[in-house]
Amino acid sequence: MVKRESQSSDHLTGGSHRRIMTTKLATAIAAFFLLASIAVIIAIATVQVKQRTYLSPGLKYGIVLDAGSSRTTVYLYEWPAEKENNTGVVTQTTKCPVKGPGISEMNAEAWNSLKKCMEDITNVIPPHQHKSTPIFLGATAGMRLLHQKSEELSNAVLLAIQEYLRSLPFDFHNASIISGQEEGLYGWITVNYLMGNFLEKNIWNAWVHPHGARTVGSLDLGGASTQIAFTAPPDARGTDLIKVSLYGYEYNVYTHSFLCYGKNEAEKRVLAELVQQSSDWSHINHPCYPLDYNIAIPGDDIFGSECTKRNTPTHYTPEKTFTFFGQSDPAKCKTLVKSIFDLKSCQGKESCSFNGVYQPPVTGDFMAYAGFYYTAGALDIKGSNSLEKFNSTMWSFCSMDWKTLKKIYNITEKHLKSYCYSANYVHTILADGYKFNADNWEKLNFQKEVNKTSIAWSLGYMLAQSNMIPAEAKLLKLPISNSVFATLLFLFSALTIITLMFLIITLVRMFY
Ligand SMILES: *[C@@H]1O[C@H](CO)[C@@H](O)[C@H](O)[C@H]1NC(C)=O
Ligand SMILES: *[C@@H]1O[C@H](CO)[C@@H](O)[C@H](O)[C@H]1NC(C)=O
Ligand SMILES: *[C@@H]1O[C@H](CO)[C@@H](O)[C@H](O)[C@H]1NC(C)=O
Repeated sequence: MVKRESQSSDHLTGGSHRRIMTTKLATAIAAFFLLASIAVIIAIATVQVKQRTYLSPGLKYGIVLDAGSSRTTVYLYEWPAEKENNTGVVTQTTKCPVKGPGISEMNAEAWNSLKKCMEDITNVIPPHQHKSTPIFLGATAGMRLLHQKSEELSNAVLLAIQEYLRSLPFDFHNASIISGQEEGLYGWITVNYLMGNFLEKNIWNAWVHPHGARTVGSLDLGGASTQIAFTAPPDARGTDLIKVSLYGYEYNVYTHSFLCYGKNEAEKRVLAELVQQSSDWSHINHPCYPLDYNIAIPGDDIFGSECTKRNTPTHYTPEKTFTFFGQSDPAKCKTLVKSIFDLKSCQGKESCSFNGVYQPPVTGDFMAYAGFYYTAGALDIKGSNSLEKFNSTMWSFCSMDWKTLKKIYNITEKHLKSYCYSANYVHTILADGYKFNADNWEKLNFQKEVNKTSIAWSLGYMLAQSNMIPAEAKLLKLPISNSVFATLLFLFSALTIITLMFLIITLVRMFY
């Protein structure tokens, strides 16, 4: 004890000088680190401010023309630029229905209406963003049929519309016929994107695949074709299965498109069937049309289509007209509509829809939109969730005569006369074709939009064509500006710790 005390007192005089030097040096170093920390703080603040002023360019836009068989619809979509690759951020700004017919038969009125739509949309997008706004056109079954009829004609139609779209101030991407399989898949992508089924934010604010998330099936009914798409069981095989990777997760999607089974083309097939059964073309009974309603239909409106040309009767010439007389006969109507589906080829098979087409049994919830929605909506059974209710409502609708129908329903005559047929079509394809039954009918959701955005293949098409739903989830990592921020934060923390350590060491040295 004594020895140690004397030793330390020996040091005292020389040591005191050295300690002052050490303290000065430590203070200088601490001051340097403090200043460095302040510099880093300023840098962080500057980056933050810059990010706010330069890195938030607001909204981006995209235009898709859905060139359907009976009309074209122009959709304008918008999304926050910095969230481009997140799920569920794209919404519909506006949509413009172009007056019919579809692009395969464009007349002057349709052209003017299209030009008016494009003018209106141009006015919505800020001028400095016109050049960076992508524009796409996808043509569906109407053009698939024209292509079948005459490749030359369909190419000419596409070229004319392309030329027009290129003349607009936007970033022209693509104008082509999409396949039925693409149409089905894009519809499925739209449904699940809008429902937020692909990604969700976890508590750390990171995007993750929703735990136990289920996808929703997609049922689309257009004028010339209809599509079904849903996530298939893993053991399903065949050409109608597509594997898609979205945000790092792989989906096995079953999708089939039935050409000529759109609402309008199927109606022509029904009329063709009646013509074939009849001997007097000036008086043909139609069980689906209402009693006391009759209509003369030009032959070309029935047999001018690729879908009915094989059913053209002998002695037929395009000048012929056919006169139909409504019967309001629900039982006969059901039998007639059923007759355009080949249900025999699938009889007794579990994985088969109709016309011998492979289809795994339907599972999970389904969104039934476009023609499905409009048909169920017109009969006011879109919210109902029983097959029984659908059938009984349809039955009573089909029993009403023309006068009663017009009194009860506020629908234009052109459409009103056909809703008994379309209800039977919807009932037949869903129940007899896809095999929805009393147990799973409630899984069907008849809707036309989600959060004011139309459910249509066009959204999924734009997302896919502009790489806005990356295959890999790693694309959703922190953007560069955030990693710069993280680096600065790390430097700041490190410097603070070093400064504190120096201060502590200095204090310890001073007082002990
Ligand atoms: C979104 O993903 C695409 C394709 O991977 C990429 O090119 C683009 O830069 C991404 N955009 C944003 C805002 O992260
Ligand atoms: C245009 O779209 C079609 C159909 O989706 C696709 O096959 C084709 O590769 C696209 N062309 C371009 C240039 O992106
Ligand atoms: C539909 O309803 C009618 C009348 O109520 C009935 O005769 C018919 O059997 C029903 N059809 C089906 C498939 O349930």
